[in-house]
Amino acid sequence: MRRGAPESPPLGDDEYRLIRNTLYAQTGLTFRDDQRAYVERRLLTRVRALGLTGFRAYHLRLLTDTARENEFQEAVEALTNHETYFFREITQLRALIDDVLPRLPKAGMRQGPVRILSAGCSTGEEPFSLAILFLEARRSAGRTLVPLCEIVATDLSRRVIERARRGVYGDSAFRSLPIALKDRYFRPVEGGTTVTAELRAQVRFAHANILDRARMEALGSFDVVLCRNVLIYFDRDAKIRAVSDFFDILRPGGFLMLGHAESLLSVSTEFRVAQLASGLAYQKPLPTGEAGGGSRL
Ligand SMILES: C[S@@+](CC[C@H](N)C(=O)[O-])C[C@H]1O[C@@H](n2cnc3c(N)ncnc32)[C@H](O)[C@@H]1O
Repeated sequence: MRRGAPESPPLGDDEYRLIRNTLYAQTGLTFRDDQRAYVERRLLTRVRALGLTGFRAYHLRLLTDTARENEFQEAVEALTNHETYFFREITQLRALIDDVLPRLPKAGMRQGPVRILSAGCSTGEEPFSLAILFLEARRSAGRTLVPLCEIVATDLSRRVIERARRGVYGDSAFRSLPIALKDRYFRPVEGGTTVTAELRAQVRFAHANILDRARMEALGSFDVVLCRNVLIYFDRDAKIRAVSDFFDILRPGGFLMLGHAESLLSVSTEFRVAQLASGLAYQKPLPTGEAGGGSRL
């Protein structure tokens, strides 16, 4: 053992259970028994950075972080996967514009833009991709045919939200974006490539935990909730909580869209399945008597 760098004790059964439960209760993030080595490796850097004696002391530190602002955020950073890129699962984003928007209830009584929530947006590539599709559709179909939209994009991690607000990206973020669109909506800057003012104006970023119902409700109501590659990290109970929050913040007739690997199969909800030209979405029913925009299965 090197002097001044004492070996930290490994993550034992009790500490693993305590740390898992604390993180789960706040974020819905679920770690299986066989992920102990992963959690240990990721959190050991925090135990060492804080100069703690081990994982029990680390759990105490999490518990005393009552505002969930400091160590709690560090743990989320260490344990979450923020993988994303522009035009990821693009067929589904196109379906949102081409297939979902026309099915939204014709809201003669409602003024204002179509509101879309990108929940678990990571560094912003997903909401900016959607904004590009909207701007392109308005360019080609004519401004009167495609509604104005307001995109709100949220994440549990403050760090990724700060990066999304900065909007500076490295090359790998552009691996699926056609070059013509990159040229139109991005500009080279020192350290990468940044979004144009036109694109930036389409998206508002906010820090929000999907499982914090009051925080989600404060974002207002939405026509579409897009939540992709987030619920795969939740267990069934956390999924049920998240999906019920989404149901409540959706306007009647609004749609929930999940990632390709995700479904509501094991989660019984009041949503109805809507078959799109490509893939599925989930629609919040309209009150009885009003015509719906989606097919009911
Ligand atoms: C793999 S990324 C997905 C990004 C984007 N939706 C996509 O599909 O490309 C998952 C994101 O979900 C966020 N996340 C995990 N749990 C969350 C929660 N409880 N509330 C909000 N965001 C959460 C993570 O911080 C991470 O940035």
